[in-house]
Amino acid sequence: MKIVNGKDGLAKEAANYIVEHLKKRDASVLGLATGSTPVGTYKELIAMHKEGKVSFANVHTFNLDEYVGLKNTDTNSYHYYMKELFFSHIDVPEDQFHLPKGTAEDIEAECHTYEKLIRQTGGIDLQLLGIGTNGHIGFNEPGTSFQSRTHVVTLDESTREANARFFDAIEDVPTHAITMGIESILEAKDILLLVAGKEKGEALSELLYGDVREDIPATALRKHPSVTVIVDTEAYQAAKIPGEENLYGG
Ligand code: GLP
Repeated sequence: MKIVNGKDGLAKEAANYIVEHLKKRDASVLGLATGSTPVGTYKELIAMHKEGKVSFANVHTFNLDEYVGLKNTDTNSYHYYMKELFFSHIDVPEDQFHLPKGTAEDIEAECHTYEKLIRQTGGIDLQLLGIGTNGHIGFNEPGTSFQSRTHVVTLDESTREANARFFDAIEDVPTHAITMGIESILEAKDILLLVAGKEKGEALSELLYGDVREDIPATALRKHPSVTVIVDTEAYQAAKIPGEENLYGG
């Protein structure tokens, strides 16, 4: 686990980690996340790309999730977020980035297609993750089976409330989403989890010290052999149990 100072520290550390990962291979499949936490990381990666330090020409990307019912052009869709904040500023070819299609006519079929595409592309090498205040990863809400694959979820009220800040009103926040499942996420070869802000303290504390259980989806990460956690001091202090070493050596 790496503890960093503030948003800038987090963004730099995470971007460097991703660039180092890419340097070691000719091609890579990245799993990507949305939310406010990785915004700075994408900014930093764009800056590094513009300085000639990294190319995404041989990178395929798969996002974790997408709201059901929002068009790609909707400013709150994750398609829009990824294009605006990352893809349109780097050299990843259009046919190499993927998000679940939340407007698909047959949403169940879309979940299978998405899983198949990930498999056909060789599986995810590095999965970038954020964490919800209730411990969700992707949109896998508390209680989701650890055996879950890409599926449709009903969003928790707490998640809709937390994400309402991006919408005009809470009623506009979709009630459903497509998300990669816990098992799909755990299949990534490496996982990079970013945790920022004191409101994530409780979820971080569960991740570090709590029992592994489906009530707190992020605890599934403890079953994975290669997870790197980058956490800002605010979240770390809010989570810290004095005198206790945690599992990630912080
Ligand atoms: C959303 C996303 C998650 C994200 C989480 C935390 O619900 N589906 O992938 O990790 O929110 O978001 P934030 O980084 O804005 O706190």
